[in-house]
Amino acid sequence: MSEAKEKNSNIRKVYIKTYGCQMNVYDSERMGDSLDGEGYVATQSPEDADLILLNTCHIREKAAEKLYSDLGRLRVMREERDPSRPLTIGVTGCVAQAEGDEILRRAPTVDLVVGPQTYHRLPELLQKVREGKKVVETEYAVEDKFAHLPHHNRQAVRKRGVTAFLTVQEGCDKFCTFCVVPYTRGSEVSRPVEQIVDEAKELVDAGVKEITLLGQNVNGWHGVSQNGSQWRLGDLLYRLAEIDGLKRLRYTTSHPRDMDDSLIDAHGNLEMLMPYLHLPVQSGSDRILKAMNRQHKAEDYLKLIERIRKARPDIAFSGDFIVGFPGETDEDFEATIKLVEEVGYSSAYSFKYSPRPGTPGATMKGHVEEKVKDERLQRLQALILDQQHRFLKSKIGKRVNVLIEKAGRHDGQMVGRSPWLLPVAVLTNAKIGEIIPVNITEASSNSLLGNAAN
Ligand code: 5AD
Ligand code: SF4
Repeated sequence: MSEAKEKNSNIRKVYIKTYGCQMNVYDSERMGDSLDGEGYVATQSPEDADLILLNTCHIREKAAEKLYSDLGRLRVMREERDPSRPLTIGVTGCVAQAEGDEILRRAPTVDLVVGPQTYHRLPELLQKVREGKKVVETEYAVEDKFAHLPHHNRQAVRKRGVTAFLTVQEGCDKFCTFCVVPYTRGSEVSRPVEQIVDEAKELVDAGVKEITLLGQNVNGWHGVSQNGSQWRLGDLLYRLAEIDGLKRLRYTTSHPRDMDDSLIDAHGNLEMLMPYLHLPVQSGSDRILKAMNRQHKAEDYLKLIERIRKARPDIAFSGDFIVGFPGETDEDFEATIKLVEEVGYSSAYSFKYSPRPGTPGATMKGHVEEKVKDERLQRLQALILDQQHRFLKSKIGKRVNVLIEKAGRHDGQMVGRSPWLLPVAVLTNAKIGEIIPVNITEASSNSLLGNAAN
């Protein structure tokens, strides 16, 4: 074996599989960064890995059950593996937090269980595993996880491209009655201004042009400025907009009750804040909104949409909907359909209600039959799809600024991001990272096609 090859065989490889939301995507990246210093390199193939981390989601039953089917496959893979190549299997994320020890009982093949608040301690926890221990770490750390994470790996950021996520807020104090997040991610914590600005600069230095600020309740973010005044998300956006080289900003996910004036103003005044907002409402029925503990009415949401549209007329909205929440009647569902028709979304996500252990919704009366949930979901999704098509078609003939992200499938074609997040395929010789005007010529079911404008 050549020396180079011998060296290669000493490199440890980690495969991280991400389930669920964008925050999990960000967390997986940060876990990769924290393992970097331990000599791990990322691999895209589980067969090739020395360490496999499953970064899980607990939001609906289906997402959580997926973990156990994947663990079944990994158990077989491990049994069939050459014993000279040991494999460590870890479960991280929200199922780890919610189920803890139970995971080891159900899947003894797992070596390590780490909740979302403690993954900065992965290197030390892996050391315990190497010493032959099974490790479960789901306590909330007393220290600030983010302050203990290493800097972003510049090369890894470059490889991921010109857009990046940045967590600014974590956890939730709203306690919607369907939702596990307050239990898996804990209560609301906002990262301090300077920490966020430094991380944003680091990303921009590595070539990032567009940053999406993340939080389970991102517009609940608050902090203290350098001169001691209280800041809300709108103020933070203005501060980040000053970073040289940063071209675009987004944030997700927001709660309607936390859309304050400074944030709505930012939509009107900050050109680089993209005209796209994911603003979940969940239902159009006041009765169901109350049972969900959303703390607002359908009318409040519609008025809010109107105010934001007034500040930024070209803004596109997306949302989340749950059908079949306990007690939802046909009439309640019709109210949701009516609300969707009134708003006109550019895209939206809809789900059948999934009872989650420990949440108030799970023990409410009036659970809706699966068949009824299916019918309602189909109707809602057809309406949303129709709105998405209409939105895309409305862009034909328009000139749109596109951030070039990667090469396209055809010769001379590049793929980029429209201001509304939807991808655009463009014939152009522009380079990755450039923002170019594009004349939109066609719309497919979920993307746009166009030519570089001169
Ligand atoms: N059942 C179905 N959908 C849910 N969501 C959250 N909890 C549940 C649940 N128990 C949906 C909501 C939320 C999105 C992230 O997932 O619509 O906004
Ligand atoms: Fe899933 Fe919520 Fe955890 Fe994200 S925060 S991974 S959506 S349970």
